[in-house]
Formats: sequence, structure tokens, C-alpha cells
Amino acid sequence: EKNILTDTFGRKHNYLRISLTERCNLRCTYCMPAEGIQLSPKEHIMTYEEIYTIAQEFVNLGVTKIRLTGGEPLVRKDAANIIEKLASLPVELTLTTNGVIVDKFIDLFKKCGINNLNVSLDSLSPQKNKEITRRSYFDKVYNNILLLVKEGFNVKINCVLMKGFNDDETIDFIKLGKELPVHIRFIEFMPFDGNRWNMDKMVSLQEILSEVNTAFTKNEIVKLEDAPNDTTKSYQIQGYQGTFAIISSVTNPFCDGCNRIRLTANGQIKNCLFSSTESDLLTPLREGKPITPIIEKSVQKKFKVRSGMDTLDKFKDIDGHNNRSMITIGG
Ligand code: GTP
Ligand code: 5AD
Ligand code: SF4
Repeated sequence: EKNILTDTFGRKHNYLRISLTERCNLRCTYCMPAEGIQLSPKEHIMTYEEIYTIAQEFVNLGVTKIRLTGGEPLVRKDAANIIEKLASLPVELTLTTNGVIVDKFIDLFKKCGINNLNVSLDSLSPQKNKEITRRSYFDKVYNNILLLVKEGFNVKINCVLMKGFNDDETIDFIKLGKELPVHIRFIEFMPFDGNRWNMDKMVSLQEILSEVNTAFTKNEIVKLEDAPNDTTKSYQIQGYQGTFAIISSVTNPFCDGCNRIRLTANGQIKNCLFSSTESDLLTPLREGKPITPIIEKSVQKKFKVRSGMDTLDKFKDIDGHNNRSMITIGG
């Protein structure tokens, strides 16, 4: 059935990811360059009202799930107001957060019916965490994850594995799930502007699985079902409360089931995580022009696989792709 959010490959985009801010209280190496990024001028950042207006438009067009990202979404001063306002829309509302100040939002999440949270944690060692995030918040984040679980939230832990750095922790992470009902997701390290990516640093789906196959017996490893639009290949160790999964954006893309569209904090649509071209919604919105045709055009222009980076080979000259730093995309 034809719809403005259906692309030329028949993919229905019912999942909107909104980046609330380019700012973050961490400085993760895989997400931003050491020297930082040039922040958009404040007047180019969507206001509370503009976010709501655009979100409403997407919901009218068929969006049923909204994920708030950043930067770190919770550091935006009016984050609580935005969350509360968006929760009034008929959507599943969720967030991806670094977990540093998430404890201050628990009551709000409950009030807003938010049950699912994705939290980033890349190492179980405080020292390594400090190296990755260039900040010392390991204890806060770890305790906040425990708190969220205790408070009944469904928690997914995002872990970007990097060769020779934290790839010796795969099994330790999985074992967290023995007593804790959390979902660990190992993410293949992806290239973005300024993150010094190269293929040799990435830990692949295959490598993770072979490690798992060494650490556990065949009978212990249970393959779980994933939904058609999921980014994950999910597993559970027999008898564990938690699960683990792999997000293989690099070696095994899942674009066939892609239902995501992104809105950056400065009001640009990205029809793909890897898209180098964007569509400006904020300027026309401020000029009182209709935004639906712009949304439609952006969806129609979407490539079949990774904005044209359909083979692994094309990742090698990633610098030519002109994408943003991850911190201004939001994952
Ligand atoms: P769920 O909505 O719970 O399925 O979470 P998610 O995996 O979509 O979102 P999250 O923000 O937790 O992102 C986890 C990892 O998946 C990050 O590294 C994202 O960049 C990556 N990711 C999320 N959506 C997409 C996508 O559409 N394409 C690709 N290639 N990667 C994605
Ligand atoms: N490769 C893979 N995942 C990344 N993330 C941030 N940068 C990268 C990257 N270069 C993940 C974070 C966060 C999610 C939104 O995206 O771990 O959990
Ligand atoms: Fe969708 Fe692009 Fe991610 Fe593929 S790479 S799943 S098309 S956002």
C-alpha cells in the first residue's frame, strides 16, 4: 500500500529517531574526534515546539515509534518537557542514553509510560571506560543500569567492541546476563567522521560468534527470534536471565528490514545512518512552508543498502563519504 513514508523498495518507515542535542557529557572515542566537534549555533537547533510539530507530522504520516538520541538526550535543558510532550503522541517512546544522569529521570519515564531504555556501556573496567569515554563515570553508569533493572525497565546495553581494547570482555558481558535480566548488544565498530575507524579495529559478527562457541557448548547457546525490523541477531545462554545480540551493520547489514528515519538536532532528515546528503526541514518549517513534501522526497531518495555503501570495499574510503560524526547523528 502506497504511503509517503514507504520508499521505492517497499520499506515502510514507521520508526523516527530524533537527536535532541549535539552535546554530551562524555567524549567517546568512537563517536567524536579528540578535538571535539563544531556545534551548530543555538538558533539552528530545533526548539521544543519545533520538535513537537515535526514529530506530530511524522506520526500523522504513520510513525509509531520514536527514539530520542543525542549527543546525550538527557543533557538538553528542556529534555524532561520534550519527553513529556512527545509521550502524549500515540507512539512507543524510548531513548538511547549513556546512563550518566538517567537516575534523575526515572519518575518521569514511569509517568510517561517509557519502559525500554538502551544504555551504552563499552567496558566493565572503570579504567578502560575512562579511556573510551575520556570521563570517569563508570560507577554512576553501572549503578544506574542496576537501578533501572530494579525499577522494572527493560534495559539493553550497547557495547561497541574494538580489537585489542575491549574485545577480551565479550564473555564477561554475556555473563552479566546470568543474574541480570539485561540485553547485551555488541555493535560492530562503524566509520563516522573523525572516529579514526579502520576495518582492523572492528570485531565482526563472525568473530564474536566463534568466541561464544568456544566459551559455551552448542546446547547452551540458544538462537532467539528477531523481529523483521530489528538491528540484531539475538541469542541466549541456557538458564540465563538476560540475552545477548550482535548488531552487524558493517559485515552483515540489515537494510532490507530498515524502517528508520532520522531527524538531527538541527532539523535535517537523514534517510539513512550513512547518508551524506540530508534534507532541511527546519528552514521551511520556520518559513511556514509545508514539510510533508520534503519528507516524501527524502524517503523516495533512500538507497537500498547503506546509502550506496553496499559492499565492504566501499567502507575503505569512508572519508570520501562526507557523513557527520556519530555524536550529531545519534546512532
Ligand atoms: P531498538 O529500537 O531497541 O531496536 O534499538 P536500536 O538498535 O535501533 O537503537 P540504538 O540507539 O540502541 O542503537 C544501537 C546501535 O545500532 C547503534 O550503533 C546504532 O548506530 C545502530 N543502529 C540503530 N539503527 C540503525 C540503523 O537503522 N542502521 C544501522 N546500520 N545501524 C543502526
Ligand atoms: N560504531 C558503532 N556504534 C556506535 N555508537 C556510537 N558510535 C558508534 C560507532 N562508531 C553507538 C553507541 C550508542 C549508540 C547510539 O551508537 O554505543 O549506544
Ligand atoms: Fe537503514 Fe541505512 Fe541502517 Fe541500512 S544502514 S538499516 S538503510 S539506516
